[in-house]
Amino acid sequence: MNLTVIGTGYVGLVSGTCFAEMGNTVTCIDVDKNKIENLKKGIIPIYEPGLEPMVKRNIENKTLLFSDVLKDNLENCDVAFIAVGTPMGEDGSADLKYVLQVAKEIGENMTTPLIVVDKSTVPVGTADKVKETIASELEKRGLEIEYHVVSNPEFLKEGDAINDFMKPDRVVVGADDDSAADTMRRLYSPFFRSSMDRLITMDVKSAEMTKYVANAMLATKISFMNEIANICELVGADVNKVRIGIGSDSRIGYSFIYPGSGYGGSCFPKDVKALKKTAEQNGYTPKLITAVEDVNDIQKLVIAKKVISKYGEDLSNHTFAIWGLSFKPGTDDMREAPAIYIIKELVKRGAKINAYDPKAMDEAKHFYLKDVDGITYFNSKYETLAKSNAMILLTEWKEFRAPDFHEIKKQLKEPTIFDGRNQYNETLLNELGIEYHQIGKKRP
Ligand code: UDX
Repeated sequence: MNLTVIGTGYVGLVSGTCFAEMGNTVTCIDVDKNKIENLKKGIIPIYEPGLEPMVKRNIENKTLLFSDVLKDNLENCDVAFIAVGTPMGEDGSADLKYVLQVAKEIGENMTTPLIVVDKSTVPVGTADKVKETIASELEKRGLEIEYHVVSNPEFLKEGDAINDFMKPDRVVVGADDDSAADTMRRLYSPFFRSSMDRLITMDVKSAEMTKYVANAMLATKISFMNEIANICELVGADVNKVRIGIGSDSRIGYSFIYPGSGYGGSCFPKDVKALKKTAEQNGYTPKLITAVEDVNDIQKLVIAKKVISKYGEDLSNHTFAIWGLSFKPGTDDMREAPAIYIIKELVKRGAKINAYDPKAMDEAKHFYLKDVDGITYFNSKYETLAKSNAMILLTEWKEFRAPDFHEIKKQLKEPTIFDGRNQYNETLLNELGIEYHQIGKKRP
């Protein structure tokens, strides 16, 4: 098929490239000319394992094209995906201005029948707005061209996005028209080798809702577990054991019940807020969803509180080695990363920070921690330790999992680790004489 993907952000670029990999001809559009020029050369603006070689391969095969002009790429296009950003508005709702701008441009320029797909994460009712916007532009042009608006939310995890797209758990398609649903089924069938059961079709509004509910459910599991971790500490239980105890119940399962320093990233924080807003706009006051967010806000600072309770409110004359800045491993993304909040909290009290992250240091320096004084960045994890009082682990990158603890002990002023991701073995660290603070288990 001939596809157009509008928006070459994370979702657009991964989706477009994977569709090209499956043999479609895909044109990816973005208003950012500089980005498009780079993409034409195979230079991608994000770090995502496996994406760059796939982009380059498909550019060479001429199955992946890039352009900054939408209007030239609608003719002969079977399906146009809207994958532009939906930033959080000031009131917590998703801002649809970019989505509706694209819809308007489609209405102004389309010449042949088209399926328009909402791929961006958009609140319930957006497909109707996209449909109305296109209709009104066609009316202005005095044209009647057949088109359908479909909802096809993405469920990609950063760091594993290619795998998620190429071998999806499920694909959700919301379509109010059978022929549009059939086209989507044909488009996705190569991604399901054995059975198409995992392509789930439904009405548009339910599909729009599914995206938010999936993310809110996962965020709820995490906040629930973080709250349990805080209770475990108070009663003298070990949340790591409780986690295994409950996960063994197949109704509960092991995934997404790891306590930590709170969830971050581009999806959970934004989607939980947006779902809450949608509920409120429809006259419902969501109590659980609100609590999920409140617990997460508190959780982001739990490690900072542990540091303060050991060293006191005044942290001048203290230096902390921070291992990990990104919101999770496998990405350079620092959006809503706990590291931002924890570092600011420590620096506010006079602390100096020695930071290292395998991928996210540029993001930190140039954006997220740009205005924060007192941070020195290092090129390796061990270099952060010299003259530091303690090491604080905030992202569970693989290279942090089994470090040389003797080296850590030798370099730190006082051998102390604060583990915001419960990665280490407490018994081992105690034997080595390293003071170990983790989430959800009080120190003996
Ligand atoms: C998430 C969804 O998983 C994905 O389906 C959706 O499309 C986008 O949002 P992503 O934000 O990339 O993906 O990251 P994910 O791996 O889900 O982790 C989200 C956050 O939850 C991270 O901050 C992670 O550290 C945290 N987390 C995850 C926990 O604290 N505990 C867990 O048990 C799992």
